[in-house]
Amino acid sequence: MPALVLLGAQWGDEGKGKATDLLGGSVDYVVRYQGGNNAGHTVVVGDQKYALHLLPSGILSPGCTPVIGNGVVVDPAVLLSELSGLNERGVDTSKLLLSGNAHLITPYHTTVDKVTERFLGKRKIGTTGRGIGPTYADKINRVGIRVQDLYDESILEQKVEAALDFKNQILAKLYNRRAIDAAKIVDELLGYAEQIKPYVADTTLILNNAIDEGKVVLFEGGQGTLLDVDHGTYPFVTSSNPTAGGACTGAGVGPTKINRVIGILKAYTTRVGAGPFPTELFDKDGEALRTIGGERGVTTGRDRRCGWFDAVIARYATRVNGLTDFFLTKLDVLTGWEQIPVCVAYEIDGKRVEELPYSQSDFHHAKPIYEMLPGWTEDISKAKTFSELPKNAQAYVKALEEMSGAPISAIGVGPGRDETIEINSFLS
Ligand code: GDP
Ligand code: IMO
Ligand code: MG
Repeated sequence: MPALVLLGAQWGDEGKGKATDLLGGSVDYVVRYQGGNNAGHTVVVGDQKYALHLLPSGILSPGCTPVIGNGVVVDPAVLLSELSGLNERGVDTSKLLLSGNAHLITPYHTTVDKVTERFLGKRKIGTTGRGIGPTYADKINRVGIRVQDLYDESILEQKVEAALDFKNQILAKLYNRRAIDAAKIVDELLGYAEQIKPYVADTTLILNNAIDEGKVVLFEGGQGTLLDVDHGTYPFVTSSNPTAGGACTGAGVGPTKINRVIGILKAYTTRVGAGPFPTELFDKDGEALRTIGGERGVTTGRDRRCGWFDAVIARYATRVNGLTDFFLTKLDVLTGWEQIPVCVAYEIDGKRVEELPYSQSDFHHAKPIYEMLPGWTEDISKAKTFSELPKNAQAYVKALEEMSGAPISAIGVGPGRDETIEINSFLS
């Protein structure tokens, strides 16, 4: 089983960090292929809790080589502070590999992210303010700065000047902000260059060789399917491709090399930031999911919007990612409800719709059609096998599996590494 992708099947925060960490002990490489420090992946090991933003969750498994692929956008200040934070806690980070082709988030990208959001006002996306969108925009506009540019001072100067020529006009004339001094940015970036150098590598070559040698490579997605810039709820999305195809472009590995694609799926639904969310709850059930599930953003500290499970979205995630398996997380959070509503289809303009509508306007009008499933009251957090779950919890999982279009191969019953029911091994 040389290469697997693990990605979010909903709007992010499904529990990807925990799932990646769980597999990390058995894989050789864990690779981030898109996004940046907009991600917040929580890993709980014993009594220690880690929040990873830019680094792959495999960094906590000693045998595993963590890789930041070419498709990731890297804020060098964040990278160094995350590394030193882990070093202070005794984590060895020396094996990290960073693609020389990854693009750098600079202070002008975070500035543009924040002023753009302010300018949008009511229409804002609710970004994490980490400079993600503007950095990807520069990449596509061919005015981005890459990790490798840190090692050619004259190229770096030319590129920063070229990028700022245009941006400073916008900042000054449109947003009424002071222009940013290119020389200062260059100095700051050069200040990171030597510290980052030991990690910089030809990650595409290393990963392809590893797969050819039968090593196990796990691609860890950030964000989620519905936040994908192509397949998500555009424009309320992030600026990268968290979907499975993103692993190929974001790491330089061909689709023929990938054997398994695992969708991480929460037993209910959450979303941070603006945008449509058909099963969102505004009542005491929503508040209960938020409180019991600890649904507060790891990156921005914002409360997450909460709602019931949406099978239309799960089916869509199966389709656009070619999912082979689901990892269902946070089933324990649903303990105590007498009945649990599950959205099986939408009603749009009086018609029943089974698949996610491609039209944004239709999706904004989608009303959930619920089926009620019986709940359970027993504590499930100690369950180790599927048969140890209460009958109604088993039936809930089976119903979700049936509706979602791929087998549920693992179930999370708590945040810890060992609070997991494994049904089918992901690595066989
Ligand atoms: P990610 O961004 O997909 O890695 O997810 P986050 O870390 O942002 O949010 C998931 C939260 O749920 C974290 O606080 C995890 O520790 C927690 N978590 C993950 N799996 C489970 C589970 O099965 N049960 C419970 N109760 N918590 C979980
Ligand atoms: P993980 O990896 C949940 C959301 C933001 C905003 C939109 C665009 O922890 O699941 P951006 O800063 O990326 O331009 O913001 O995407 N968003 C996330 N929501 N989990 C994440 O990451 C997210 N990363 C970005 O809230 O709505
Ligand atoms: Mg998160």
